[in-house]
Amino acid sequence: MSTDKTNPPGANDSQTLRQFDQQHVWHHLTQHKALEQNPALMIRSGNGMMVTDTDGNQYLDATSGGVWTVNLGYGRQQIVDAIAKQLSDLPYFAGALGNEPAAKFAKVLADLLPNLSRIYYASSGSEANEKAYKIVRQLSQSSSRQGKRKIVYRDRDYHGTTIAALSSSGHNERKAQYGPFLDDFVEIPHCCCYRCPFNKTYPSCNIECAQAFESEILKQGPDTVGSVVLESITAGGGVIVPVPEYLPMIADICKQYGVLLHIDEVVTGMGRTGTWFGFEHFNVFPDMITLAKGLAGGYAAISVLATTETIFEAFKTDTNDPLNYFRDISTFGGCTAGPAAALANIDIIQTENLLNNAKIMGDYFIQQLRGLAEKHPCIGDIRGKGLFIGIELVDDRKTKHPVDEARMTRVFLHCLQHGVMIGRSNRSVAGLNNVLLLSPALICDKAKADDIITAIDAALTATFKQTVFKQTV
Ligand SMILES: Cc1ncc(COP(=O)(O)O)c(C=O)c1O
Repeated sequence: MSTDKTNPPGANDSQTLRQFDQQHVWHHLTQHKALEQNPALMIRSGNGMMVTDTDGNQYLDATSGGVWTVNLGYGRQQIVDAIAKQLSDLPYFAGALGNEPAAKFAKVLADLLPNLSRIYYASSGSEANEKAYKIVRQLSQSSSRQGKRKIVYRDRDYHGTTIAALSSSGHNERKAQYGPFLDDFVEIPHCCCYRCPFNKTYPSCNIECAQAFESEILKQGPDTVGSVVLESITAGGGVIVPVPEYLPMIADICKQYGVLLHIDEVVTGMGRTGTWFGFEHFNVFPDMITLAKGLAGGYAAISVLATTETIFEAFKTDTNDPLNYFRDISTFGGCTAGPAAALANIDIIQTENLLNNAKIMGDYFIQQLRGLAEKHPCIGDIRGKGLFIGIELVDDRKTKHPVDEARMTRVFLHCLQHGVMIGRSNRSVAGLNNVLLLSPALICDKAKADDIITAIDAALTATFKQTVFKQTV
């Protein structure tokens, strides 16, 4: 029997590994009762857009690692080498001091960002958002922004899993059972035209969803509102691309009432939508953005908050006050693997022209999906930008009644059984977990896109074969 404690007996055998997993791992977002019969799939390796499980089965990953993260695909030796070199030079030092990759990456990132020049390092999207909220709250104690402590967020947006991040999230199912939430977070309606909260139709509406922001500021009192946090394009809430006027209107309202515009780019950042950042599609200039997932493509845990120099300067005004600076730390914000990987990540995106590929392939997906919609009346809406796409499934196009969870699961499992991993909205917004999510790596080519579309086509045919003829198209 092996005496090696790091390699327990049987650890090389797939079935035993699954047993270890079943007995000891508490999986994210998982009802474990179901895993008692069927242990979780266990992924062993990846190459490009393909992953292989411990039984040797291969899957085409149309999700970039499940949650929009492995944006450059698996097996990127350049990133691995950059991390390895950095770890052997220096793995870590607390962020009160400097280190080389952090300084370099801050410069490279700031050069990509219009008027956001200060980079604060952390280790997850939730954490980066928390930093932004702490900045708003601390500034609300200063004479220039006295009392402006409230943070406005939007229905169907998600900003993370910690209590403050959940307090600022519009996912009622994610939030259920974790309250009470924090005071001074205020919700405004979502901006999904397909299910307009104001029953209007674009472009004949007055962008009531953006106007609702001003109404909420006036209701709360402009002197109490510090910031608004928005995903540039809503991700887990169902891939919601706002109409072109929406974010510029929000930005104008922010200016008018001295409200900081915080854009959460945790999913949309670093090329996912065909531009470096999602907000670039809308010609707005945020005061703060947060980045995580694709920042290092999943090769290291890193997130950042980027702010304007004005915000940064506000924390230097009174050196006589021992508390007048940002007294925040992230232990793992001092890991050097993150910025080293993020530098290599940016280099690859530039060298391989992946922003352009994301745009071209995103358009190709939308075009192919529109073709599928002609054949499958269950496709109610197709939304997206770049390689970030949502397909909303409905029972009936007229009533827009959402497809139930059982059939969403069948579509998802059918694709998986045929070797393609797709995503889906999942226990996020009550009654609206009916969106299939596609976010293949930015390297996706036409052949892979066709494989993904073919798998979805077959899954929809298999799942909706009895209902397909009842549709009123
Ligand atoms: C838009 C958005 N913001 C923040 C987060 C939280 O990131 P993390 O899970 O790294 O804390 C997520 C996670 O999915 C997200 O989708």
